[in-house]
Amino acid sequence: MTKRKSVVMSRKKIVVFASGSGSNFEEIVKKSKSNYIEADVPFLISDKASAGAIKRAIRLGVVPIVINWKNREEAEEKALKILKIIKPDLIVLAGFMRILSPRFVSEWKYKILNIHPSLLPAFQGTTKAIELAEKYGVKITGCTVHFVDESVDGGPIIIQEAIHINDDDTPEKIAEKIHEIEHKIYPLAIKKVIEGKVKIEGRKIKVYE
Ligand code: GRF
Repeated sequence: MTKRKSVVMSRKKIVVFASGSGSNFEEIVKKSKSNYIEADVPFLISDKASAGAIKRAIRLGVVPIVINWKNREEAEEKALKILKIIKPDLIVLAGFMRILSPRFVSEWKYKILNIHPSLLPAFQGTTKAIELAEKYGVKITGCTVHFVDESVDGGPIIIQEAIHINDDDTPEKIAEKIHEIEHKIYPLAIKKVIEGKVKIEGRKIKVYE
């Protein structure tokens, strides 16, 4: 009998952090299940037990982990311990409403992605980017996927996409349009990072076919 060597290729792992409704999280899980993203999403970490993302996680078969974030140092300590066990290839912030400390970020350098609902650096460092863009009267806004560094919304940019703001667009309508493109570019950016098709050259990122 000839012995056959079997090579087991283990799939990569993504952990998503979310505080809100979790529509981006759901899209990422669906695109991982369909193999568009070649990685699994076994866990969701949230700072909010009532987050819509938790309900979605249960429905999608993703294990939700809730961490009380009242004390950032303690919360991050817990999160770092959990991440050490899970050993994800990538951490994806999808509407996670907490700022990660420089210590946390440096432990996971170039392994944390974020999506921001503006064309960065416009409307940077705010949770009201859509409302501020509407109030300012900009004609074009959009969303940005970037690596997380020690700054707030200032890490190197992977992908951006724009939308037009029409005269009668309300902040709600703009949010709807932005969500639509987020659901496309976030999975795409994650796919590229997972496939090793993202090259980091200082502040500049090249994304390959
Ligand atoms: C998105 O608009 C994202 O840009 C921002 O938070 C929102 C999360 O939306 N960081 P959802 O919870 O994924 O629907």
